[in-house]
Amino acid sequence: MAASVTLTAGALALADVAGAPGVGDPYFPASGNGGYNALHYDVVLKYTPKTQTVAATVTMTARAGHPLRTFNLDFRGPRVTSVTVDGIRAAHTRDAGELVITPAVPLARGEEFTTVVSYTGTPTSIQHGTLGTYGWIKTREGAIVLAEPDGASTWLPVNDHPSDKATYDFTITVPKHLKALANGEPLAPSLEGNWATFRWRQPVAMASYLASVAIGKWEMTHGKVGDITVITAVDPKFKKSLTQVHRRTMRALRWGRTTFGPYPFRTSGAIVDDPRLDYALETQDRPIYGGFVPSEDFVVHELAHQWFGNSVTVRRWKDIWLNEGFATYAEWMYREHRSKKDSAAKTFRSYYRQPAKAPIFQTPPGAPGREQMFGFPVYVRGAMTLHVLRQRVGDAKFRTILKTWAAERQGGHGTTEQFVALSERVSGKKLDKLFQVWLYKKGKPKRGSW
Ligand code: ARG
Ligand code: ZN
Repeated sequence: MAASVTLTAGALALADVAGAPGVGDPYFPASGNGGYNALHYDVVLKYTPKTQTVAATVTMTARAGHPLRTFNLDFRGPRVTSVTVDGIRAAHTRDAGELVITPAVPLARGEEFTTVVSYTGTPTSIQHGTLGTYGWIKTREGAIVLAEPDGASTWLPVNDHPSDKATYDFTITVPKHLKALANGEPLAPSLEGNWATFRWRQPVAMASYLASVAIGKWEMTHGKVGDITVITAVDPKFKKSLTQVHRRTMRALRWGRTTFGPYPFRTSGAIVDDPRLDYALETQDRPIYGGFVPSEDFVVHELAHQWFGNSVTVRRWKDIWLNEGFATYAEWMYREHRSKKDSAAKTFRSYYRQPAKAPIFQTPPGAPGREQMFGFPVYVRGAMTLHVLRQRVGDAKFRTILKTWAAERQGGHGTTEQFVALSERVSGKKLDKLFQVWLYKKGKPKRGSW
């Protein structure tokens, strides 16, 4: 249907036909790729715990944004055994974290195309000074994926940037004494010889850092909150806490629905695995807690991300406070809801009382820099920013702002500028000074300065 592009020399500059190796995010210049938009990933993966090897075939359906002679996927995984584009073998080379693909027939602008990448071997995780271990992570029984911010390419050939969300299907085969979980809703499993195959479907567009599988010996329980299916799974080591984690999740979910508006997905839950990562990830739709039984605060935080981060996603990593500040402020709001003794105002004061030298005041949450993007200031000073907004506009307007943000941008993206604009629109107040001081100014904001 699309007009075929004849790539005679000189007809198009090279820049028009090679997909850029990154989307231009200054925090992660190599993340994502130019020239196309991913629509869907079909992940078929077999895991052999004994050798820790995966044998996988990932099919990406995408649309070309301009004519493409070559394009990239982000991939740091094991050996690629074959690549096809629209069913025809494609040449491919690897260069650091990039898989560079040259289809036999160049792609036309607007064309929908299908890339199939097969690979086999042992994926490795990323070890980082402040971010810890992330990406594909081996566990005692199996493996688990926590990939924020740029760890998806450790196990998937993917357009690894949150600006390009896509739907996913997972077909995961494991030895039959194990179970495989992934995002979204379960489809019927099947058994063949010594292997069991688990299928999961994520029908709502998802950022690549949230895509996850969790292979292990799960103790599981199910429940319902309205029409949301809640699936909680814990490593046998945490068996005694299964019910507690499940109840906390159900309760926080009910609260989230009334506070932030309709839950954006169809399933929810929690996964508690054994490796001591000491952090959690809000994997859509079931957060993963790395090696600990989550407190109420933790559960509320990760569930709040389903609205703020997962449904409404950052377009560039610099805006990460839209995820972490919001999820942290949800903790403060939930405590206020649960206990008469606690209020968000009290929590705010306890932080504001800290001296100007305190770490939370050193990094502006609206521009934390790559190294500090998950630092305490993004979480706490980000939450403090929402609290001063609430003080300025009043409780009712503040809640309307949160609900409108979640509703208007459901399934899409949002930037800090857009949140500021929405806050001004809903409140009818000029708020640029407030956000300027709290998000971008170094040092402790002085009373009266916003
Ligand atoms: N979004 C996660 C949390 O709040 C943090 C993930 C940080 N990533 C990492 N590799 N440590 O709750
Ligand atoms: Zn968070």
